[in-house]
Amino acid sequence: MSNDKVNTGHNIEDKELIINARKPVGELGNQILDRMNKSHENMAQWGVSHIEIKEDSKILDVGCGGGRNIQRFAEQISENGRVVGIDYSDVSVEKSIELNQEAMDRGIVNVLHCSVSEMPFFDETFDIVTGFETIYFWPDFINDLKEVNRVLKKGGLVFFCNEAVYREGEMEKYDDLVELLDMKIYSEDVLRESLEKTGFDDFKAYVNEENDWICVTAKKIQ
Ligand SMILES: C[S@@+](CC[C@H](N)C(=O)[O-])C[C@H]1O[C@@H](n2cnc3c(N)ncnc32)[C@H](O)[C@@H]1O
Repeated sequence: MSNDKVNTGHNIEDKELIINARKPVGELGNQILDRMNKSHENMAQWGVSHIEIKEDSKILDVGCGGGRNIQRFAEQISENGRVVGIDYSDVSVEKSIELNQEAMDRGIVNVLHCSVSEMPFFDETFDIVTGFETIYFWPDFINDLKEVNRVLKKGGLVFFCNEAVYREGEMEKYDDLVELLDMKIYSEDVLRESLEKTGFDDFKAYVNEENDWICVTAKKIQ
């Protein structure tokens, strides 16, 4: 999703490729994951500047895609930290493993195939749960947030970073993309309400006006 055409959904030049952003499959899935690892980089760097990663942080990246954010976090932790990526696409899991093989061999990274709706983790496992460009596709946002809340430690941080934000009267530009990908674009208010309804507080939102990016954080209630 690097250029304006893809960003807004107008003039989507290659629908067969772009549809893979929702759940990458096969060779085109492979291609879009390579592309997203690069095209999401500036937004991701901006987003993570709002959160603190400690050397012993236990981090879960949901919808890890091509695995670039797993790699970023793995570079910031010591042998006492952990990064786990999950994705419900086989190709995303394969790509994330390929990119992070060395850190996996060192035992600080793991990548699993599952949906956010039902994750194979004990309650209160992680300090931080992140999601970059993925919540648009979650099947049941409220229940999925409850599942995220379950696997976070008390006081743990949830972080979402999106390049599409809902704004009243400005959504027409996303029509093609929303239809193609069946995606839900959330406003800051809906993100706040949804997180407050599912066991989080201390909501914070950051907006990059120049690019229209949003990232939000909230903490699991102690
Ligand atoms: C647009 S890509 C973003 C990938 C990566 N986070 C990035 O920023 O480049 C969305 C990813 O979320 C994954 N995804 C969507 N819904 C999911 C779900 N319910 N559970 C797990 N992964 C999901 C997709 O398979 C895909 O890899």
